Amino acid sequence: MTVKDLMLRSRSYRRFDEKKPVTMEQLRELADLARLSASAKNMQPLKYVLSCDSGTNRLIFSQLGWAGYLEDWDGPEEGERPAGYIVMLHDRSVTTHLGCDHGIAGQSILLGAAEQGLGGCMIGSVRKKELHDDLGLPKHMDIVLVIALGVPAEEIVLEELKPGGDIRYWRDSAGAHHVPKRSLKSILIEGERKKV
Ligand SMILES: Cc1cc2nc3c(=O)[nH]c(=O)nc-3n(C[C@H](O)[C@H](O)[C@H](O)COP(=O)(O)O)c2cc1C
Repeated sequence: MTVKDLMLRSRSYRRFDEKKPVTMEQLRELADLARLSASAKNMQPLKYVLSCDSGTNRLIFSQLGWAGYLEDWDGPEEGERPAGYIVMLHDRSVTTHLGCDHGIAGQSILLGAAEQGLGGCMIGSVRKKELHDDLGLPKHMDIVLVIALGVPAEEIVLEELKPGGDIRYWRDSAGAHHVPKRSLKSILIEGERKKV
């Protein structure tokens, strides 16, 4: 599989077949990909909580916000919920400067998940204080991102955003999730370069 194949496959999935498990071994492998990722000043301040048991999954799920643009959808129903999670933590005792390490690590995890036949979603909308308390985490660690994981049970359609079009993702009457992406042409900038 090429990197582009993986990128195309690595969508944000929010509905899963909850009966199909995610194993601790799979989660450990994904955390290992995050460990190998680039890090500002190579400080590596990220730490991870892994969950694939139903009790901890329930605790995590109850603190997440799903698909803000789908106003009439409150998130996945029971049976469609993620079978595993990686909670990404910033360990401030290593450095207070996080840079963009969390985004890079999140992408590594989602690409690895796609390779494993899993899908997932980075969730930034997290009631962080509540989840921190529920998980009994140390005071010097902040939750930065939760990555929900499972075997996907939804169709996702990428489409090109037309000029003046709406970037909001939407769901059609058959339940497929549509994600508009800006065209390559529209994101490549020439600028008025100095003559050299
Ligand atoms: C930093 C970050 C935070 C996100 N937070 C949420 C979130 O809280 N809830 C959610 O449902 N999706 C969240 N997403 C997923 C985005 O909505 C998704 O990436 C976007 O719709 C594009 O879809 P795609 O990932 O399939 O390309 C987040 C994505 C990123 C990168």
